[in-house]
Amino acid sequence: MGNGTDNGTGKLDGRVVIVTGAARGQGEQEARLFAAEGARVVVADVLDDQGEALAKELGEDTARFVHLDVSSEADWQAAVATTKDAFGKVDGLVNNAGILRFNELVNTPLEEFQQVIQVNQVGCFLGIRTVAPEIGAAGGGTIVNTASYTALTGMAYVGAYAATKHAILGLTRVAAMELAARNIRVNAVCPGAVDTPMTNPAQLDPAADPEEAGAAVAELYKKLVPLGRIGKPTEVAALALFLTGDDSAYITGQPFVIDGGWLAGVSII
Ligand SMILES: NC(=O)c1ccc[n+]([C@@H]2O[C@H](COP(=O)([O-])OP(=O)(O)OC[C@H]3O[C@@H](n4cnc5c(N)ncnc54)[C@H](O)[C@@H]3O)[C@@H](O)[C@H]2O)c1
Repeated sequence: MGNGTDNGTGKLDGRVVIVTGAARGQGEQEARLFAAEGARVVVADVLDDQGEALAKELGEDTARFVHLDVSSEADWQAAVATTKDAFGKVDGLVNNAGILRFNELVNTPLEEFQQVIQVNQVGCFLGIRTVAPEIGAAGGGTIVNTASYTALTGMAYVGAYAATKHAILGLTRVAAMELAARNIRVNAVCPGAVDTPMTNPAQLDPAADPEEAGAAVAELYKKLVPLGRIGKPTEVAALALFLTGDDSAYITGQPFVIDGGWLAGVSII
């Protein structure tokens, strides 16, 4: 894989990409990989300390942190202004920020349902609405939305979440159609289980035994997933890179499942 910051042969040389939810998990790996491939990245998140630290590590020529709550219109305006101020333009967006809540539908409080919609679905909409005109003004570019395998199938106890992820695919398809004339491609990644704090909250719990938590996760996905393991955030980042770079130049409006084969069929082994 190229490294544009060193030798000018990266897959994203010259690009300027905002990645939301980039302080940790998949977004962090997307920011790291995009920077390694020559992009300048804006690390956008509500976790200020972690986001600042990542931007600092990537270096001032390459990265900026911006505090962005994806459900806030004002934060989006400010994030675009910061990006243009730092790097002159924006021609890429990865709508990655998201939250997950577990609850049976009949027990889900309205506030919880609306909170998940506000971040996952409204956040994605606001990102497209605010950033697409800027990408168009820069001559074109890409938007990658983060859906989920629950955008394509059901899963008990994540009703609010699954509803938003289905909605993100709808937004992806419509945006692809409406923005094609501005030379903007819009696609979605649909991860299965990926090893981040969202799937494995023990990662955030200082009292948890990481080995024990890791072993429980490994045992679970060995049975559930044909490839026999949970996914890595770097693997999702590689897909986001493909959809952001020119290797996917003729692809728009599509969901891309990355799940170790989980959705391939019903397992009896
Ligand atoms: N981990 C998985 O198994 C999995 C599977 C399918 C889809 N996804 C999706 O991938 C994306 C990334 O999740 P992750 O697994 O890295 O989880 P994560 O919880 O580690 O990361 C999510 C990031 O989003 C940020 N965030 C939350 N609310 C925000 C808001 N209002 N504004 C801005 N940032 C906000 C968090 O601070 C965090 O940095 C999410 O959209 C998630 O739904 C994850």
